[in-house]
Amino acid sequence: MELRGATALVTGTNRGIGRHFALELLARGARVYATARRPELVDVPGADVLRLDITDPASVAAAAEAAGDVDLLVNNAASTAGGNLVTGDLDAIRTTMDSNYYGTLAMIRAFAPILARNGGGAVLNVLSGVAWQTVDGNTAYAAAKSAQWGLTNGVRVELAGQGTLVAALVPGLVATTTMKEFARDAGLDLGAEAMTEPADLVRIALDGLEAGEIEILDGLAVVAKRSLSGPPRALELPTAS
Ligand SMILES: NC(=O)c1ccc[n+]([C@@H]2O[C@H](COP(=O)([O-])OP(=O)(O)OC[C@H]3O[C@@H](n4cnc5c(N)ncnc54)[C@H](OP(=O)(O)O)[C@@H]3O)[C@@H](O)[C@H]2O)c1
Repeated sequence: MELRGATALVTGTNRGIGRHFALELLARGARVYATARRPELVDVPGADVLRLDITDPASVAAAAEAAGDVDLLVNNAASTAGGNLVTGDLDAIRTTMDSNYYGTLAMIRAFAPILARNGGGAVLNVLSGVAWQTVDGNTAYAAAKSAQWGLTNGVRVELAGQGTLVAALVPGLVATTTMKEFARDAGLDLGAEAMTEPADLVRIALDGLEAGEIEILDGLAVVAKRSLSGPPRALELPTAS
């Protein structure tokens, strides 16, 4: 899709990848609704800032009411915590599934009619390579991302008839504060070369979207997807020595 002149809504823009999405979309000539649970923390000059919690139905409905001119929905916001499925905190596991799966779904259900009205447009869901290769220490998040991948594939089929492109961005490791803190707490020694810079990731994502791609992968995600042709195994991450 053509981004110059488009109107995008991005979730979770107060930090991390979401903020870079908002900045890069503005740089490419789109109008941007930069949304966040805490809008006072959004630092995206030139964007229209909206309060939005994707797991709160009233908040989602209010955003849809306020942003009826959207033709690109970027579902970036999610809890990435989760922990392990068997031993982890069940509330954290639910929060992770709620945001990644039900929150993304709520946004798509609210905005599908708006996208249809505005000519079809596109939805870009931010998934993860752990959708395809689980990761010990955060298996709940990996399972939520697997569910979000299934959701993305289903919605793509359902919205094809109204001309909406449904694309997935599938990153491996992205150098956000959240990822760096996760690696530090897990004793992982992830060198800079193993991680994609958020600004680079977003450029790859938006280039892919402009080219009409439905699955946009970085290097590590390519490896994770290839692993689907063999027996399931966990992603191997380097441990700090
Ligand atoms: N970093 C990576 O290595 C990596 C790799 C693959 C995929 N991803 C995916 O990329 C996306 C962004 O990751 P990130 O590293 O940028 O994460 P991040 O820095 O932790 O940011 C997460 C964002 O999501 C927001 N959020 C969480 N739950 C929300 C909710 N219910 N409603 C609205 N906003 C909510 C957070 O808001 P608050 O500040 O209010 O919590 C924050 O703005 C996620 O979907 C993640 O799964 C990241």
